[in-house]
Amino acid sequence: MKFGYFDDANKEYVITTPKTPLPWINYLGTNDFFSLISNTAGGYSFYKDAKLLRITRFRYNNVPADSNGKYYYIKDGDTIWNPGWMPSKTDLDSYECRHGIGYSKWNSSKNGVSASVLAFVPTDDACEINQIKLTNNTQSVKEIKLFSYVEWCLWNADDDMKNFQRNFSTGEVEVIGSTLYHKTEYRERRNHYAIYHVNSDIDGFDTSRDAFLGAYHDNHDPEVVTNGACTGSVAHGWSPVAVHQINITLNPGETKSFVFVLGYCENPDNDKWESKNVVNKAPAKKLIEKYSTDADVEKAFDKLNEYWNNLLSIFTVESANDKVNRMVNIWNQYQCMVTFNMSRSASYFESGIGRGMGFRDSNQDLLGFVHLIPERARERIIDIASTQFENGSAYHQYQPLTKRGNSDIGSGFNDDPLWLIAGTSAYVRETGDVSILKEMVPYDNDMSVATTLMEHLKRSFDFTVNNKGPHKLPLIGRADWNDCLNLNCFSEHPGESFQCFGPSEGPVAESVFIAGMFVKYGEEYAQLAELLGDTAEAERARKEVKIMYDTVLESGWDGEWFVRAYDAYSNKIGSKECEEGKIFIESNGFCSLAGIGVKEGLAEKALDSVKKYLDCKYGVMILQPAYTVYHLELGEISSYPPGYKENAGIFCHNNPWVSIAETVIGRGDRAFEIYKKTCPAYTEEISEIHKTEPYVYCQMVAGNDAYIPGEGKNSWLTGTAAWTFCNISQYILGVYPTHKGLSIDPCVPHGFGDFKITRKFRGATYNIEVTNPSDVEKGVKELYVDGCKVDGCIVPFTEGKTSYNVKVVMG
Ligand code: BGC
Ligand code: NOJ
Repeated sequence: MKFGYFDDANKEYVITTPKTPLPWINYLGTNDFFSLISNTAGGYSFYKDAKLLRITRFRYNNVPADSNGKYYYIKDGDTIWNPGWMPSKTDLDSYECRHGIGYSKWNSSKNGVSASVLAFVPTDDACEINQIKLTNNTQSVKEIKLFSYVEWCLWNADDDMKNFQRNFSTGEVEVIGSTLYHKTEYRERRNHYAIYHVNSDIDGFDTSRDAFLGAYHDNHDPEVVTNGACTGSVAHGWSPVAVHQINITLNPGETKSFVFVLGYCENPDNDKWESKNVVNKAPAKKLIEKYSTDADVEKAFDKLNEYWNNLLSIFTVESANDKVNRMVNIWNQYQCMVTFNMSRSASYFESGIGRGMGFRDSNQDLLGFVHLIPERARERIIDIASTQFENGSAYHQYQPLTKRGNSDIGSGFNDDPLWLIAGTSAYVRETGDVSILKEMVPYDNDMSVATTLMEHLKRSFDFTVNNKGPHKLPLIGRADWNDCLNLNCFSEHPGESFQCFGPSEGPVAESVFIAGMFVKYGEEYAQLAELLGDTAEAERARKEVKIMYDTVLESGWDGEWFVRAYDAYSNKIGSKECEEGKIFIESNGFCSLAGIGVKEGLAEKALDSVKKYLDCKYGVMILQPAYTVYHLELGEISSYPPGYKENAGIFCHNNPWVSIAETVIGRGDRAFEIYKKTCPAYTEEISEIHKTEPYVYCQMVAGNDAYIPGEGKNSWLTGTAAWTFCNISQYILGVYPTHKGLSIDPCVPHGFGDFKITRKFRGATYNIEVTNPSDVEKGVKELYVDGCKVDGCIVPFTEGKTSYNVKVVMG
């Protein structure tokens, strides 16, 4: 069952009922100012950091869900309604929400009045624009009242929901005409404030939540709206809000338009005040001025669309498969941008106060983002590497505002260092910019111990070399990619962090998954060393990779699949010897995609086993059989009920690893079958089961053992976005950036047909036509570049050349 439809021409998903199974959200913002916004206008805004600079207040875990947002109440006689349906929940005569790329729009109507709302964050300023147009579609004059409403957050979102004894006394506002200023804590250590402004005269305002809602009311029936009159309250402490009241007369057929600006403003420390305790409003005035008319809004909106159209023209495909075209050309790349911006900080499942930027997560996000804005990827790589330690290990997370490593969680996740090689290699392959490798980058943000980025990568590489266990496999530390496989933790008491409890390192527990990563990214590291002319280092790296390869075959092979790990007692995990958790996806997917066991026929065997034991209708499960009891020696993985999350859920993130591995051994049918199972454009049809947004990937879909198999959770912020984009664009469609140029080596299902790709790469445009006359799954029979036949499947890159016409004949 569907709750809307894709409008590909406009790059929108059109939601046709407010009653979606879960709030279906969108992200506004490209640089520093971001808003999460649901199909019922719920959500919140923040500047740079969802924890430290939260602008509006949202209540996670609230009932009804998805409350607090940017709400517009329309009072038409005794009827009060909202264009997004929430929070009044008044039945609407018509409703439509269009989530687009960086904007959301509503078209709704009630009793002959229609409202269209456009919400977006312009590319150049720290604000969200809401343009609301009201039209009278009746034959008689309408006297209506419009009330806006946002509730301010007192900046630090964590403190905001805990420290009431202080916070109920700190709130401060100023009101000047149609601009409502939120200036809590500005008197002391902050140099920023927020504004909510409308470009028209107002007939009233409120800035105290209690005055607006009235005692024992909530935002579903604010007393002020019911009474039709604001009280002019000026908040002192308690909960500051911003409410405008505009009384509107609409003649038959008439439309009136209003522009609301929710902005973040900063002043230099020495220029904070206009006069005693009156904030310097210069930045606010500038913002208000810039977005004061509909024409200003249209100009900014056009600019946003142009920004996105440019980005989305970097990789486009035209194939016979509409769903692939839609995901590749629009939604998958859009989600890659969002995960790049947010890492795992702020979604409807990530509270924005927990994790900031993840070392492993952000590096993987880069893989699907780097082609879009390489300069930002470059900056991110330096930021991430700056949180590495001198011994090659790394902070697991850092805060986006301060860019400092988070010492609450610390380090000890032994896959982390290798992801830095993955991210950097992707950047250099994309751009050819080797200068990044020579940048001086600090350790733990300490410039006095800075080295080149290449030296950071060397220490990443050597961290694995120097931290091996009894089987000569990499030690796992607190966890590897699977945060829930906590083999050194042994936590017995509720409330202890599974990852951070106990020692960060044990001398025995080992990870076959990290071994797979080492083989894949060790080779990429060797290639980077070669690029810098350091052949000795490349040779040393390849020797270590070869040793690891052999070690995996010796101690990481279980007969039909790859073992997952060894626990602290050196017992196998993910082996036929185990009672539960006999086979895991990660080691099988990653070792195979790294090429381990391909020539020995073992990768094929492993992937056959994955199909046999882990496949289900909704995707490939992370392990089988599920753990049914808590295993002290395994940790969080066995804490989840069977079928959920890391305990036998379908972790969408590692489905593409298996699909990529299938392309490595040339099985296009199977690669595509896996691609389809978790692909939003396909799961749209079962939205009532799947529940999360049908235009983006979610982290987890409940597996076969679950109460409701197929139910999705944790949408938006997941490495699935980057990995599925790599899978479809670089492996299935086969356009993979190498240091020498683009490699084009598709691996498609039978019947996929011919297709065309446009790819912008290192300043040139590649028009690529792939034909497949014998309908093979893989193989490049002929490659022509500008009419000339070229051997192999790499289009050699020539500096200065701006266009390439490429023809690929599969066979
Ligand atoms: C989740 C993991 C996540 C980890 C982060 C666990 O509870 O299951 O998916 O990576 O928390 O700390
Ligand atoms: C989500 C986390 O963000 C990611 O870092 C981790 O790899 C997966 N969960 C698996 O545990």
